[in-house]
Amino acid sequence: MKVSVIGAGNVGATCTNVVAQKDFLKEVVLVDIKEGIAEGKGLDMWETAPINQFGTKIKGVTNDYEATANSDVVIITSGIPRKPGMSRDDLISTNAGIVKDVTEKVMKHSPNTIIVVVANPLDVMTYCSYLTAKIDSSRVFGMAGILDTARYRAFLAEEINVSPKDIQAVLMGGHGDTMVPLPRYTTVSGIPVRELVPEDRLQSIIERTKKGGGEIVNFMGTSAWYAPGAAAAQMAEAIIKDEQRIFPCCALLNGEYGMNNIYLGVPVKLGRNGIEKIIELDLNEEEQNRLNESAESVREVMGVLDNMEVVS
Ligand code: NAI
Ligand code: 2OP
Repeated sequence: MKVSVIGAGNVGATCTNVVAQKDFLKEVVLVDIKEGIAEGKGLDMWETAPINQFGTKIKGVTNDYEATANSDVVIITSGIPRKPGMSRDDLISTNAGIVKDVTEKVMKHSPNTIIVVVANPLDVMTYCSYLTAKIDSSRVFGMAGILDTARYRAFLAEEINVSPKDIQAVLMGGHGDTMVPLPRYTTVSGIPVRELVPEDRLQSIIERTKKGGGEIVNFMGTSAWYAPGAAAAQMAEAIIKDEQRIFPCCALLNGEYGMNNIYLGVPVKLGRNGIEKIIELDLNEEEQNRLNESAESVREVMGVLDNMEVVS
């Protein structure tokens, strides 16, 4: 089993490090376009193996897609990140070109791979990779929901003063300010969250979650990488180990939730075949309306991609 990570920047390197430390692979390949960066970071990470006690070899390469051949999972993190004042959507023109180019090279060497997209604007970059790869949408999907629910769960854990391990939650929609955290599907070890958190505090945590990416950009001048890298690694693990885990992922909808031909965050079951199933929740009217609004904002960015004619 083989995983390749494209982009050895903050998210890609972190993801590679987490994958290696989870120790479920013989090798993980890290690729970057900048000379030497993947080789250097890969070697540095490999030198932690005796300390952190893992056996996964890390191979860093510069733009050498032969090294990625026959990957089972490829994670695309290549792309520019947000700077203060930018939205994720501002990245579209640069990142669409990168995602298309990378997807073509990946598919040439790993025609049977599963692709997990991380580059932003996430929902539309995943759509761009899907149009380029020309494979079933069960094998092309995006990482955002695990990150966004992790933020929501971490904030709730702090609020209630319980272990984050005990918070379970569903969050849907696009990876942007219109994302839809769902308190009705949020529990603390099975206890509905509304029995433990007052409504005003819950709403303020939901608002903080929606702006969670921007909160970090404002601190650091660039976007997050520890939680995004860990989230993408968790998806790779679920696929490679055929875990049949349920996570919110960015998936192509074909009729689910009343929508067609749009990539949007929804709960899915992940296993060896990629998305094994899209789970349809029985949303109430307000939840469905908010999901529809989120879909509208994703469609606007999809329109920008269509007009750019980067992919056909
Ligand atoms: P970064 O700038 O640290 O790393 C990006 C890397 O991609 C650089 O090393 C660059 O040389 C490389 N790269 C650029 N073009 C390439 C190409 N054609 N082939 C191979 N490598 C190439 O950026 P960072 O922080 O790692 O973020 C990466 C992307 O992930 C950004 O678009 C960011 O917005 C997105 N992101 C998405 C999240 C999500 O939840 N989906 C969360 C965090 C970041
Ligand atoms: C994040 O949510 C910027 O998408 C990135 O941290």
